[in-house]
Amino acid sequence: MAFFFHLKRILHKYFLPLFLLLSLLVWFTAFSGGKLKSFHISLAPTQTLYKGDSLKDELNILVKASNRIDTPKPKEECPQESPLLRGAVKLTFEPSLTLKDVEEENKEVTEGQYEPLDCTSRQSVAILIPHRNRERHLLYILHHLHPFLQRQQLHYSIYIIQQAGDETFNRAKLLNVGYLEALKDYDWDCFIFHDVDLVPENDHNLYVCDEQPKHLVVGRNATGYKLRYKGYFGGVTALTKDQFYQVNGFSNAYWGWGGEDDDLRIRVELQKMKIVRPPSDVARYTMVFHNRDSGNEINKYRMELLRKTQHVWRKDGINSCSYKTLSIQRLPLYVNVTVDIGKP
Ligand code: BGC
Repeated sequence: MAFFFHLKRILHKYFLPLFLLLSLLVWFTAFSGGKLKSFHISLAPTQTLYKGDSLKDELNILVKASNRIDTPKPKEECPQESPLLRGAVKLTFEPSLTLKDVEEENKEVTEGQYEPLDCTSRQSVAILIPHRNRERHLLYILHHLHPFLQRQQLHYSIYIIQQAGDETFNRAKLLNVGYLEALKDYDWDCFIFHDVDLVPENDHNLYVCDEQPKHLVVGRNATGYKLRYKGYFGGVTALTKDQFYQVNGFSNAYWGWGGEDDDLRIRVELQKMKIVRPPSDVARYTMVFHNRDSGNEINKYRMELLRKTQHVWRKDGINSCSYKTLSIQRLPLYVNVTVDIGKP
């Protein structure tokens, strides 16, 4: 007790002189720091410091000089409509195309990622493509998508999510993995969930997210460019980070072909969101022909699963997506995420 009493008395007595001394010290340090900097700048041949200049003048010169030397011109936001768009372009699928060719054509892409040099993109977009044993399709989609996205002046990255092993394919679960893994790299605004065999034909089909979930495939060559059915939500879709989170992502329960996209539509509708689509003359795709892959047979339980969606969506989705990441390779044109997603 006596000790605290003495301490209090001492502090009381010496507080003011101590405070003044400390303030003086702080002021002196700050002042000499500024001085040193201004000496340094005054050595530059274009600067002349007149005797008697006030500290304020010196500081002004310092600020001006450092602005000139260090600060890059701030980039403006990219325009609402990119001046680089070309509309409908003729797509080619050269059998002789190689990955080296595509890398040569896209020197500005680093580890799958790109951003415009001269303006700031309106959205940062992660393109997620589930994949297994479709190397030729992968090459064509990379060949077409990179320049397409660059013409749209986007900050983007392409993620290829590879299902390891031979178990039945699960497109939806791979896309959940892609969402979770891509968010570890960057806080993406928008996610494009993209089939590997669909190539967009018109760059006015913008790979950005809207106020509502967006379905980008109105028509494709194989089906006479007609919407397959009213609620069709497959092929390529765009949801913001929050929209996808709100519906708890895709279900993890759809093994094999079909149903997972209808399930996502039900989730979206349960949240009272409304699917939007670009005009049909723009939302057109070429589907690169292929036979049905082995390991991706039609899911005969899909109708049964769809009847349960409204009861299970809260527990089955990104919040319950368990997987083992086997590797993440940052290749020049894409991030290659290989995962073990288990089996049905
Ligand atoms: C399937 C969907 C598929 C659609 C179009 C539906 O029967 O459930 O998954 O995208 O057909 O092929």
